[in-house]
Amino acid sequence: MKRDFLHVTDFTKAELNETFDIARKLKSKVRNGEEHHFFKGQSMAMIFSKPSARTRISFETGMYQFGGHALYLSPNDIGIGKREAVKDIARVISRYNNWIMARLFDHKYMLELAEYATVPVINGLTDYNHPCQIMADMLTIQEHRGTIEGQKIVFIGDGNNVCNSFLNFSTLMPFHLVIAGPEGYEPDAETLAYARDAGVSEIEIVHDPITAAKEADVIYTDVWTSMGQEAERQQRLMDFTSFQVNEELLAYAKSNAIVMHCLPAHYNEEITDEVLNGPQSVVFDEAENRLHAQKAIMVMLARSGGADIKL
Ligand code: CP
Ligand code: NVA
Repeated sequence: MKRDFLHVTDFTKAELNETFDIARKLKSKVRNGEEHHFFKGQSMAMIFSKPSARTRISFETGMYQFGGHALYLSPNDIGIGKREAVKDIARVISRYNNWIMARLFDHKYMLELAEYATVPVINGLTDYNHPCQIMADMLTIQEHRGTIEGQKIVFIGDGNNVCNSFLNFSTLMPFHLVIAGPEGYEPDAETLAYARDAGVSEIEIVHDPITAAKEADVIYTDVWTSMGQEAERQQRLMDFTSFQVNEELLAYAKSNAIVMHCLPAHYNEEITDEVLNGPQSVVFDEAENRLHAQKAIMVMLARSGGADIKL
């Protein structure tokens, strides 16, 4: 049976820990120039309905490092759900390629793609979530803070796809998650209720960034206007003004707190140049970890499908 990675909750806590272990091993292989052609002769179709830098580059490079090949399919190529039905594309690609990675608008298309594909599907972001990002983020938090458990992670800004993935992750490992944004921009209500019901992490939703930032271990932010919301940009710029991550706000966090951003950043909107490029920022380690975390997810899925991969 093939297995997909559409949400972090598709993995158990033990599997998440195993994924992080694999990611660290793969990272050292890349650093040491050790060949690891685990997917020699395999190919990955990468479907993009939205733009991307990190997701495209890290998956394409990762597949190359695995001895395989990745095909970039731009928003103009497939027209998933428009030019062609999702279920047809899923079955057609499954006849050509060993893997599908997709970045789509509507999450229900992602679920349909996975339902009809007979090869593993990896979610490279939807309007709802961004599970590969959160895996890279958590790996980065482990590297810089030693552990995820018990950390005060403060997400400042829009309750968007990245924020929903933080909530999903909070059901698997215990930490203190504080989400601070303007009223009306809270994360997905069902996901929030699910995360609270799980009773694993302490979850707070607040509307004051200063209260949120106090004694934080991690300050995280993302754009105020996500891809697809461009028409709301002017309104959002006004609504989010007091939620900028700047030196003044960062001063409320622990003195050794780290600053994270999934990138791309809108400089001097959600984060200032000084903070993004300051001594507490780990955003480029975070970006690098997309590569290692995603390759580890692929190893996990392949092993579930019966592949004997030794690291
Ligand atoms: N963080 C992230 O997913 O970046 P891209 O949109 O550039 O892929
Ligand atoms: N929330 C952002 C994340 C980009 C990686 C967006 O969806 O545009």
